[in-house]
This record gives sequence, C-alpha cells and structure tokens, in this order.
Amino acid sequence: MTFSPSSILVTGGAGFIGSNFIHAFIANNPDCRVTNLDCLTYAGNLANLKGVEHHPHYRFVLGDIGDAALVATILAGEKIDAVVHFAAESHVDRSITGPEIFVRTNVLGTQTLLEESRKHWQAGAVADFRFLQISTDEVYGSLGESGYFTEETPLAPNSPYSASKAGADLLVRAYHETYGMPTLNTRCSNNYGPYHFPEKLIPLLIHNIINQKSLPVYGDGRNVRDWLHVRDHAAAVETVLKAAASGSVYNIGGNNEWRNIDIVNLVCDLLDSRLGRAAGENRKLITFVTDRPGHDRRYAIDASRLKRDLGWEPAYTFERGIAETIDWYLANQEWVGEVTSGSYREYYAQQYGGRP
Ligand code: NAD
Ligand code: DAU
Repeated sequence: MTFSPSSILVTGGAGFIGSNFIHAFIANNPDCRVTNLDCLTYAGNLANLKGVEHHPHYRFVLGDIGDAALVATILAGEKIDAVVHFAAESHVDRSITGPEIFVRTNVLGTQTLLEESRKHWQAGAVADFRFLQISTDEVYGSLGESGYFTEETPLAPNSPYSASKAGADLLVRAYHETYGMPTLNTRCSNNYGPYHFPEKLIPLLIHNIINQKSLPVYGDGRNVRDWLHVRDHAAAVETVLKAAASGSVYNIGGNNEWRNIDIVNLVCDLLDSRLGRAAGENRKLITFVTDRPGHDRRYAIDASRLKRDLGWEPAYTFERGIAETIDWYLANQEWVGEVTSGSYREYYAQQYGGRP
C-alpha cells in the first residue's frame, strides 16, 4: 500500500543530506507541503536550498528539534502527516572532542520529536502518519575483513556519535513497540555528493587539493567505507517513506566499498587532469596522521532487503557519482568559499531578516 503524504516535516533540511532530500522530494511531489525545521548549527546552510526556497509549498522554520512547544505548533498548524528526521550532530571527530551536544541533539532531540509526534498522531488530527528516523550504518559498529551489516546485526556503536544515533534508533523502536506509533528506520552508509560540508573526507580532499593543502589520512589509510551518492540516499528515503510497513528497518547502501587511501588516490588523480597538473602531482599532498580514536575498521552494508521488498537500487555508478561530485565542487567554488570563510551564516539574515 502506498502512502502519499500531503504535508511533511523535514528536520535538519539545511544540512547535506536533508537539503538534497528536499530538492528531490519537492521535484517529485510538487503538491506536498514541506516544512524544514533547522536550528542552523555550523552544518546548516540555507544556501543549500537555493532553487526551492520560494516554492509555494516550502517553508523554513528556524528552531530546535528539542523545543517541544515549537514542534507541537508545527505538527498541528501544518497538519503534518510525516516526519522525516535528518537533524543531528553528524561528525564523528567532533563527537570525540565534544560528546555532550551529540546526546542533547541526537538522543534528547529525537525523544522530544517522538513524543510530540506521538501526541499529534494519537490526537487523530491526520488520517495517516509516519515518523522516519534517518540513521547510519555506524550503529552496527565495525566489521572485520569480511561480512556485511544486515538489519539483524546487533547494535554495537563505538563512537559518541554512533552511540547517540543508536540511542535514537532504540527510542524509535520503543515508540513503535510501546505505543504502536507508525515508525520507520533507515540506516545508510557514507554519503557523498553536492552540499557536503568540507570537514568530511571527500569534500575535504577536493577542497585541499584545489588549494594545494595537505591531505590528512588517518592511521594506515586502510579503513573501509561503503560510499553512496546522496541522491540515491534521498530516493531510498522517499521509497521507504511511501512504501514500507510500519515498524520496519531498512539498510541503505551502494555495495561500493573503498579503502580510504584508494579514495584519496582516486580523487587526487581525477583532479590532476581537471586542474592541469602533472599526473601524480596531487598525491604528493597525502600526509598520514594520527589515527582517529576508536576508528571503525570497516563498514559494508547489505541493502538486499530494500531491493527485495521495495525495489530500490542505486542509480549512480561510483565512477559517474565521484566525477560529477568533483565537477560540482569545481563549479561551485563560491559555495565552498562561503562555507570556509563562514559567510554562509549570513543567509538567514539576508532572507528572513535578523540573526539566527
Ligand atoms: P549535517 O551535519 O550536514 O546536517 C545536519 C543538519 O541538522 C544541519 O542543517 C543542522 O543545522 C541541523 N541540526 C543539528 N542540530 C539540530 C537541532 N537541535 N535542531 C534542528 N536542527 C538541527 O548532517 P548530514 O550529513 O546531512 O546527515 C543527516 C542525517 O543523516 C543525520 O541524522 C546523520 O546521522 C545521517 N547519516 C549521515 C550520513 C553521511 O554520510 N553524512 C550517512 C548515514 C546517515
Ligand atoms: O557511515 C555513515 C557515516 O559516515 C555517517 O553516519 C556520518 O554522519 C558521516 O560523517 C560519515 O562518518 P565517517 O566518520 O565515516 O566519515 P568521515 O568523512 O569523517 O570519514 C570517512 C573516513 O575517512 C573515515 O574512515 C575517517 C577517514 N578520514 C576522515 C577525515 C575527515 C581521514 O582519513 N582523514 C580525514 O581528514
């Protein structure tokens, strides 16, 4: 049975994946209202939403998912029938140096969102309702040389970030089991693509290569990540939202494992030719640095349940996706410049007046 939402609340829609999701969702569902609730942390950038900001069915609300009164007002006022919850602190390295905000946003913020959603759903204000928790493969911990994470793999998070995401996943499960609330949970592998904040590996590499800065590779560079284009993730989320059974959990991944050092070499080589540099020139920027504490060795996602049940498959090959991503960054140096200089923080004032 297909669910057709008429008014969705997207949290964290000014971030990397949330903004890509909003662009795609509005294009695919022009009649559905989309409310984007985002408190614009350092990772939130309204410039990511250029092109949809004046769409008649799009609305931005500056606010925190932990603000229960605000969340209740949006749910009731907009007659929200689906919550797609991206908002989070998302960077593992930041969680190691400052875990508290990760618990506050990812655990307590999710709890507030769940509780207000439960009241809204139980009040019967909308005919149908769904709460979709956007999670990560990191909740499963780390793999050895072989094997894959399935939806049955026990949660064994290793970083404060992944522990906070696992906490949120367990609360989502509890709301389904305890109250019968219609929840969905997706766990995706590493994303790459446009609007990726340049503190994460791939956009950091592109930015540093362009600027001839060193490329920090943690440890021996042999940690493995499973990369998926962000637009494939957005499409998978929309599929799950519309077609998955209440209470279900789906892994999302591209069957695309790379050792970090191989990704670094690839991005170096693709940029040699684009920047008119000699072959091998960019690899000279590679610098092995102290490893991330508790660095998970390998992630690999088995997404066969999603393909079997709902027919989703990635559309991008990695070859195409990484080439297009590099070209996007080269063509959008203004966006990168605004992020690295901090001037992207001005967008809220420009569009809505006042300060965030
Ligand atoms: P991001 O850091 O780019 O964006 C997070 C967004 O959430 C920002 O716009 C930020 O302002 C907003 N936000 C943070 N705290 C908030 C709060 N208290 N109230 C309202 N808004 C708040 O993150 P991302 O990479 O786009 O990740 C989005 C989601 O997907 C996260 O839940 C993350 O755990 C999950 N995920 C990410 C990846 C990945 O590779 N990036 C992979 C799998 C899952
Ligand atoms: O697997 C999904 C997760 O992917 C998401 O849940 C997280 O939100 C997202 O940030 C991402 O986490 P990672 O820690 O895997 O991503 P990051 O880009 O930070 O690092 C990718 C790999 O590259 C990881 O093994 C660490 C390594 N790395 C990272 C940076 C920033 C480096 O070697 N050097 C670097 O400078």
